[in-house]
Amino acid sequence: MKKILIKCGGSVLDELTPDFFNSLKELQASEYQLIFVHGGGPDINKMLSLYQVEPEFHNGLRKTTKETLEIVELVLSGQTNRKLVGKLTENGLHAVGLNGSDGGCLQGKLIDEAALGFVGEITAVNDKVISILMEEGFIPVITPIAVNEEGQKLNINADYAAAAVAGAVAAETCIFVTDVPGIMVNGEVVPQMTKAEVEVYLEDGTIYGGMIPKVTSALSALDKGLESVMIVSGKTSFFTGTEWKGTNIIGKEMKNNE
Ligand SMILES: Nc1ncnc2c1ncn2[C@@H]1O[C@H](COP(=O)(O)OP(=O)(O)OP(=O)(O)O)[C@@H](O)[C@H]1O
Ligand SMILES: [Mg+2]
Repeated sequence: MKKILIKCGGSVLDELTPDFFNSLKELQASEYQLIFVHGGGPDINKMLSLYQVEPEFHNGLRKTTKETLEIVELVLSGQTNRKLVGKLTENGLHAVGLNGSDGGCLQGKLIDEAALGFVGEITAVNDKVISILMEEGFIPVITPIAVNEEGQKLNINADYAAAAVAGAVAAETCIFVTDVPGIMVNGEVVPQMTKAEVEVYLEDGTIYGGMIPKVTSALSALDKGLESVMIVSGKTSFFTGTEWKGTNIIGKEMKNNE
């Protein structure tokens, strides 16, 4: 069966519409097996403000002290993952939540402890538990927390985690669901963007903040052999069974006769 990795942004989790869930059902009807990775930026920020911790970002990555990490795991696993699994279940989809550090699923290493604290990148994905769930007809919903060789938990940007899992399970497509209808340039959604164009828009600041890890992960997913990467909105329909809505990022320029 074809697999599709869906990264659901925390930015849009509270605003997912029935049209969005219909698109998921269309994907299942098109014989896709679904796997989710979720973010949780707004939930984390809300909790950090209760604890009076100021959020701090570098190139879209959250600086994570020991205290922040505890809050991140508490919120992502205990609140955000529960919310998404609940919504999928309410919509008739059989989902099971999985913390990335469970069963050695997401393994990682620190990126730059001095600048970012306990922020990691994925070094390996053990897809055993993910595969067992899928074989039994469940949709895995993975929280982006990894563990390093010393057993230290790491906060992983959900976009990076999504691309790593997509590569590890040999997904055909990776979809980034967010609160905007795709990559916008001068106020318009761009339906298709090449790697070279993404690089220009990163350089000139048209792509900034939370969109940076998304496109960086998109490019690395394409390098790992995925056929396509989409950035779509969770507030509307993004797949009708035949047509996609959003921005399709492609690895190379297509020629007319390709
Ligand atoms: N060129 C662009 N087009 C569209 N959005 C952009 C662009 N550049 C930056 N952005 C920002 O990227 C944001 C999406 O990333 P963000 O990290 O906020 O959400 P998310 O990844 O869906 O959620 P989470 O980080 O909680 O998982 C948009 O809301 C927008 O503000
Ligand atoms: Mg984000």
